Amino acid sequence: MERREFLASAVSTGAGLLVFNGPLLGATSPNNKLNIALLGAHGRASQHYGGLKGENIVALVDINAKNMALAAKVFPEAKQYVDWRKCLDDAKKLGLDAVMICAPDHNHGHMSSWALNRDLHIYCEKPLGICVEEAHVCRTKWLAKKDKLATQVGTQRHAHSNFQRVQELVRDGAIGELREAWAWGSRQIRRPGYLSAEGQPPDWLNFDLWLGPSPFHPYNPAYFSGGPGANCLQWNPFWDFGTGQVGDMGSHTMDLAWCALDADVATTAAAEGDKPNPDTAPVALHASFTLPANTWRKEIDLHWYQGGMMPDGIVGYIDLKKIGHGAMFRGSKGLLICDFTSRVIVPHAPDSDLTYYKPRPKEQQIPPIKGFVEEWMRACKGDNKTTTCNFDYSGKMMETMFLGLAAHRAQARLEYDAKACKVTNNPAANEFLRRKYREGWPLDG
Ligand SMILES: NC(=O)c1ccc[n+]([C@@H]2O[C@H](COP(=O)([O-])OP(=O)(O)OC[C@H]3O[C@@H](n4cnc5c(N)ncnc54)[C@H](O)[C@@H]3O)[C@@H](O)[C@H]2O)c1
Repeated sequence: MERREFLASAVSTGAGLLVFNGPLLGATSPNNKLNIALLGAHGRASQHYGGLKGENIVALVDINAKNMALAAKVFPEAKQYVDWRKCLDDAKKLGLDAVMICAPDHNHGHMSSWALNRDLHIYCEKPLGICVEEAHVCRTKWLAKKDKLATQVGTQRHAHSNFQRVQELVRDGAIGELREAWAWGSRQIRRPGYLSAEGQPPDWLNFDLWLGPSPFHPYNPAYFSGGPGANCLQWNPFWDFGTGQVGDMGSHTMDLAWCALDADVATTAAAEGDKPNPDTAPVALHASFTLPANTWRKEIDLHWYQGGMMPDGIVGYIDLKKIGHGAMFRGSKGLLICDFTSRVIVPHAPDSDLTYYKPRPKEQQIPPIKGFVEEWMRACKGDNKTTTCNFDYSGKMMETMFLGLAAHRAQARLEYDAKACKVTNNPAANEFLRRKYREGWPLDG
């Protein structure tokens, strides 16, 4: 309808006479609701339904018709798509403001990169991609648009106030000058290799689109045998679909350390653990990184442990194995050990009398996040597009973690140039920074 016709009809129907210059729906509309497409409409997405009720869910994308039907019960007005690329092609027609990405990990880099190319706000479930290049591309693409687009990676534990308290303690000197940091996770899911062919995909599942950008692997129902929100454990051990515990709990647990470190991408990575497997990510892994100095601390080493490997011999009288997913910081005066919701300080140098540490007054504490998805929605709608786990913060963290996997696959210590996204001391290892995509699935689409 032409604007003039719209005004005429508004007058003749007695509707209130409001004049808009922009689209009538979406974040710029009078009711200030976001028009959101759910890329991956069930599973993890179902845990977000309640929080999204106040927005317009205008499109649902899912390759599983049964899951689509469950989502459509909650959002009956939304247009349905099987191929997320078609949904993004229709971004203008749908009046899309934002996408929420809850599809499997091997789509995260593509969906995010394509959505950024279309100027859409993004909430992307963790992890941000499954290789160094994907995290790097999403991070740098967003940095170029950070003043107009809000991004958040789904590491919702970040909203526990413990994250902010740990950050303050480390930065305010409760353990003296920071020297080294560790994070670890105990979850172990071992798979020998890709699943063998078994049966045919059922008619309610588009297996070809499920593979998406990844190379072909035969159908096996076990990839789909997990409960809603936990099915990721069925496919994330395999390189073409995930990164094992690095992308799974590693995204959450490393966030606990990363939040306090104020870190840029690592300049080196080395790794030990399981023998590299061409099909699956390692279960036992110790990756160590050099983090460059920043304004308040020197260069430090950071370690990631998983799958039964643990930091060893640092404090004999504390059994770190009792903390399933945790982090530890060593400073010149003591240690800080934490999990997602609690922390302890261990002063351990002869002069660790804590006189050097002044707790900050309550009014100077880092403010609470007040809802993690809500933080992203507020940023989408407001002038300040900043969120705590935006694509720069989370991108740097995952670029570093994936570099650790590259070091493990190359079985070598790697020196990394984060500007160029390149290993500088071992040209052959660059193949482990990226992956090959099927035709029709470029990362920059
Ligand atoms: N933040 C958290 O605590 C948390 C918890 C669980 C899962 N996750 C993340 O959520 C994501 C989904 O995990 P899940 O266990 O729900 O997985 P899932 O295998 O159940 O997939 C989620 C949904 O996406 C659909 N889907 C699959 N491929 C698709 C495609 N190409 N296009 C559109 N839809 C597609 C599935 O049919 C399903 O409805 C993962 O990335 C996982 O890491 C995060």
